[in-house]
Amino acid sequence: MAMARRLLMAAVLCLALAVPAVLGQAAAPPKAAPAGLPNVTAILEKGGVYSTFIRLMKATQQDTQLNSQLNGTSPGFTVFAPTDNAFSNLKAGTLNGLSQQDQVSLVQAHIIPKYYSMDAFETASNPVRTQASGSDGPYTLNVTATSNIQAINVSTGVVTTTVSNALRTDQPLAVYSVNKVLLPYALFGPKPPPPAPSADKKPSKGDSSASAEAPTDSVAHPAGAAPAGARAAGWGLAALVAAACLL
Ligand SMILES: *[C@@H]1O[C@H](CO)[C@@H](O)[C@H](O)[C@H]1NC(C)=O
Ligand SMILES: *[C@@H]1O[C@H](CO)[C@@H](O)[C@H](O)[C@H]1NC(C)=O
Ligand SMILES: *[C@@H]1O[C@H](CO)[C@@H](O)[C@H](O)[C@H]1NC(C)=O
Ligand SMILES: *[C@@H]1O[C@H](CO)[C@@H](O)[C@H](O)[C@H]1NC(C)=O
Repeated sequence: MAMARRLLMAAVLCLALAVPAVLGQAAAPPKAAPAGLPNVTAILEKGGVYSTFIRLMKATQQDTQLNSQLNGTSPGFTVFAPTDNAFSNLKAGTLNGLSQQDQVSLVQAHIIPKYYSMDAFETASNPVRTQASGSDGPYTLNVTATSNIQAINVSTGVVTTTVSNALRTDQPLAVYSVNKVLLPYALFGPKPPPPAPSADKKPSKGDSSASAEAPTDSVAHPAGAAPAGARAAGWGLAALVAAACLL
């Protein structure tokens, strides 16, 4: 009699414990990478003549930042990609003379945080903010377009160039080729008058801010940490169930 009751209880326990344990294991699907979103590096690689810009985007982590900001809710992006020729036409030392922070600004000054089709540039209101501008900063671009011919001029105030062709025009990412590096006015425009001689002794701030540029995705969860805990709990349950079922 008592034996039968114990068996029944054990059976109930088996069911009660085994069902959630099985459900719990099925409830955590692997995190999938977002499908169908464009990859700016792959687009530039396919273009074939943008290796310097690709290298600069990597060095300043603007490639991963841009790719991660491209998602269903973003208003998209427009990238002006200077050709390798554009970079080799710069005066020697132009890039090496920039601090790490200024290199970030240079790359960001080629990226507009909004998708523009060729036609949409006609109605863009100048100056257009770039990724380097923040909400109200410098590093803006003036973009002028004429409706009948598909030609667009882009100006920083230091450099004016014409968009020669598009590498990609689909929302949410437009990538246009430019034959000149868009040297920002804030970095390459006329310098303010030199400081008074008494200020000359001040130590240069130099690159001290560069070390603050930590990769943002280094804080990602160690793979499998949470599932491991869940699995341990699962094994505990399984042991209980097994014990109950052996009674
Ligand atoms: C983007 O494309 C580059 C070059 O093809 C590749 O190395 C990189 O892994 C891709 N990134 C993502 C997030 O798919
Ligand atoms: C999507 O992109 C926008 C704009 O870049 C950003 O503000 C937002 O945090 C992103 N959302 C997700 C879920 O990554
Ligand atoms: C673009 O620049 C070229 C050369 O500077 C100029 O002739 C043309 O009128 C400009 N077009 C527009 C739409 O501003
Ligand atoms: C850009 O456009 C604005 C507004 O039209 C104008 O005030 C400004 O002078 C222009 N800057 C350059 C560098 O062309």
